[in-house]
Amino acid sequence: MKRNEFLSKLGIGAALVCTGGVLHACGGGDDAGPSNNGGNNGNPVNFTFDASTDFPNIGSSKVKQGVIVVRTAATIVASSFVALDAICPHEQGSIMYDETNNRFECALHHSRYQLDGSVINGPVNSAGSTRALKKYNIAINGNVITITE
Ligand code: FES
Repeated sequence: MKRNEFLSKLGIGAALVCTGGVLHACGGGDDAGPSNNGGNNGNPVNFTFDASTDFPNIGSSKVKQGVIVVRTAATIVASSFVALDAICPHEQGSIMYDETNNRFECALHHSRYQLDGSVINGPVNSAGSTRALKKYNIAINGNVITITE
């Protein structure tokens, strides 16, 4: 059993990601899903959100099918949103959006990632390394945001 699965069974994983003041990963959605294979446990990612109601503000985020989606700008266009893997490639920690620094950070060992998913720094006080987070396609039609692989 991996660390994330163990914490998840205890309910600790969710508690960890919900305590940060500026780190967002609990904006809603149906699950973070243990995924380290770029998507939803091998299933194709394909889902929608409503831009206005699901992402009312810059910095609003949602996690669904193992993907974290964040609104990073005011205008409702595809470039105002980012969709990346919600699970860290290192040891499956939850990825959160750091609104203050406009980047992503792992809750477990604090690897940090750019908005394009590239690595800023690897794990802190933990062996091993990480890799870039998978980036997903975003299409906007009116207020409907569609996320696909
Ligand atoms: S699990 Fe993300 S840095 Fe270790």
